[in-house]
Amino acid sequence: MSAVIETEALTKVYEGALKGQDVHALKGVSLTINRGEIFAYLGPNGSGKTTTIKLLLGLIFPTSGTLRILGKTDINSAAVKRNIGYLPEGAYYPEFLEGEEVLRFYGQLYGMGGRELERRISEVLDTVGLTHARRRLVRGYSKGMRQRIGLAQALLSDPQILILDEPTTGLDPIARKEIRDILVELRDRGKTLFVSSHELLEIELISNRVGILFEGELKTLGTIDELLTDRDVTVEIENTTTEKLAKFSEVGVAIEDSVDNRYLLRIPADTSVFKVLDMCRDMEIKLVSVRPRRETLEELFVRVVGAAGKVKENVQ
Ligand SMILES: Nc1ncnc2c1ncn2[C@@H]1O[C@H](COP(=O)(O)OP(=O)(O)OP(=O)(O)O)[C@@H](O)[C@H]1O
Ligand SMILES: [Mg+2]
Repeated sequence: MSAVIETEALTKVYEGALKGQDVHALKGVSLTINRGEIFAYLGPNGSGKTTTIKLLLGLIFPTSGTLRILGKTDINSAAVKRNIGYLPEGAYYPEFLEGEEVLRFYGQLYGMGGRELERRISEVLDTVGLTHARRRLVRGYSKGMRQRIGLAQALLSDPQILILDEPTTGLDPIARKEIRDILVELRDRGKTLFVSSHELLEIELISNRVGILFEGELKTLGTIDELLTDRDVTVEIENTTTEKLAKFSEVGVAIEDSVDNRYLLRIPADTSVFKVLDMCRDMEIKLVSVRPRRETLEELFVRVVGAAGKVKENVQ
């Protein structure tokens, strides 16, 4: 695996006008992002996601710590810049330009031109599925199409790295799925994607690794499989009685749901599944299913951010 983005103890303090008003936006964040992965950068509002992105783009400078992109510490060199595509949060494109004119405009800003630019415009429009709408004014584009033209813009220089700030915020389920599919396809073609998001269900579906920020500190970092463990087990049973159900509560097993005469029992990770199954057999309760229940990314996020918030409350 080769590292595409590496940060070491990355720290950013925004200086306030007065003493004591400084904002410690990032506090020693160390991250490695590998080639060909979708890395999800998560955290509540104000936790430092956009600050990190601005640092990666060389728009602001770290207060301390180091940054290395494609092995280079000079992240403002043309070789690095050409290899980073960026889709800003809530990007805006001129309403009275056609889709392809938007791309021509950005291409020219990047120093591209002529047949090479026209070829590239056609390629990226194809990648984001907007070939049919290339001559339409952006004014007539849906939100999803606007995000796709934004992605096309980010892809113009055929960069190795794509940095996407909230790429699916405000989109309907179909438009989200379309963007998701494009991101996965880009990953499969070997691009590295750094995606900041609040859309946890979505991120869980597509990302390889996840980092969770809280108040400028990286609280959790790992692959989806490492982080979302099979924690609890659910057991579905049928035809039981209130007295029998009470026995389960006594051993710490919760009744999560019930429909008609079926009940869903949730066995916590620290309780033996076999003990519960033995109880079912002894009480002659019919078993319908036994399933491991994987934690969702949303639950992990709430757990990590909730715990970090509590620690802070106790310190204050
Ligand atoms: N230019 C700036 N000057 C001073 N403080 C700033 C500046 N930019 C951001 N901040 C502060 O730094 C902290 C981190 O902000 P940042 O925009 O990086 O968060 P975020 O994780 O992107 O949040 P969101 O999810 O709301 O987009 C916040 O407290 C914010 O108010
Ligand atoms: Mg932000």
